[in-house]
Amino acid sequence: MEIMGRGFRQIIQESPLYFHLGLKIAGYKLFGRKSPFYGSADIINVCNLHCEHCYWWLNRKENEDLSIKQWKKIIDEKFKKQHVFIVTLVGGEPMMRPDVVELFVKEFPKRACVVTNGTYPISYFKDIYFYWISIDGDEKTHDEIRGDGAWQKTRKNVIDYLKNNGDKAWKDIWITMTINSKNYKTVKKVIADWKDYSNKIGFQFHTPFMKGDPLWLPFGEERNQVIDELLELKSGDLKDYIVNPKDQLEVMKKNWGGKGTTPVDCPTWAIVSVDHMGREKLPCCIGSAESDSMKPICEQCGLGCYSQLILKPYNTSKMMQC
Ligand SMILES: C[S@@+](CC[C@H](N)C(=O)[O-])C[C@H]1O[C@@H](n2cnc3c(N)ncnc32)[C@H](O)[C@@H]1O
Ligand code: SF4
Ligand code: SF4
Repeated sequence: MEIMGRGFRQIIQESPLYFHLGLKIAGYKLFGRKSPFYGSADIINVCNLHCEHCYWWLNRKENEDLSIKQWKKIIDEKFKKQHVFIVTLVGGEPMMRPDVVELFVKEFPKRACVVTNGTYPISYFKDIYFYWISIDGDEKTHDEIRGDGAWQKTRKNVIDYLKNNGDKAWKDIWITMTINSKNYKTVKKVIADWKDYSNKIGFQFHTPFMKGDPLWLPFGEERNQVIDELLELKSGDLKDYIVNPKDQLEVMKKNWGGKGTTPVDCPTWAIVSVDHMGREKLPCCIGSAESDSMKPICEQCGLGCYSQLILKPYNTSKMMQC
């Protein structure tokens, strides 16, 4: 028996966690008490790419990265103390700090996922939950956004991972595509390219930090068409491959998050997010710990994780990408 990649023994070992999870869910449903279910951590302040759409570069400052000992303290203080269930590791490029990934996987067995550009060899960790591999279109479009040769490097590293890590390695590979005005016509091609090499695929939309950002796919006909296409695929053979719930895809057709740069309905509280120094980021995982930083435009937000949680903040069975 396996639930969310966990065997029976692991479920038994995790039972204290389910107790806390149950308390959180009951606290929220009965009293509207808001305590985070998820965590996200920028484990590194460096990236080897400079992607056209990337929010992380917008607020990056020259700071040091933390040591393993410092991360252990942050894990305890920010995540374990609050009984966070699943943690997502981002950056920068997290595979440039495999030591920190290893620590998180050890501290959160089958509950830590890593979002990576896949251009570094993908390390095998027995207890990783899974990898989100970021793919931003067919090869040509992906490389326009992420840099020449990026797609081929990622392709090779995914294939090597599958070759080197046994029959079940494909289960660890989940694809994430951030849909924007440049790549929205390549959604089906991305599925065709990656279906045989991955367990699941998740879609989200580009979230701008300035009005008039040309990469934002505006609400309206073209965006609805993309979503309707995904809904149709989800109703057919790709029901289990596409990880987005149908109601979440519907949510992403319009403004669900807020007004201007202020979150209104967005369940920001459900995910505790820290930057590379372990400081809490506001208003959400693409925000910043510094008050003078650039802010995401909530009324045009397309983030997968929060738009799913708006429907059911306590749904820990499927965590969307951030
Ligand atoms: C900041 S990256 C960090 C992890 C890793 N470097 C990678 O590219 O997967 C995390 C995810 O955020 C997505 N992303 C970057 N900028 C975004 C934006 N403005 N709106 C929505 N998603 C964005 C990326 O495509 C990637 O899937
Ligand atoms: S690889 Fe990830 S962190 Fe680096 S620039 Fe691209 S999206 Fe941003
Ligand atoms: S996820 Fe972030 S950008 Fe999107 S609505 Fe919520 S607070 Fe705003």
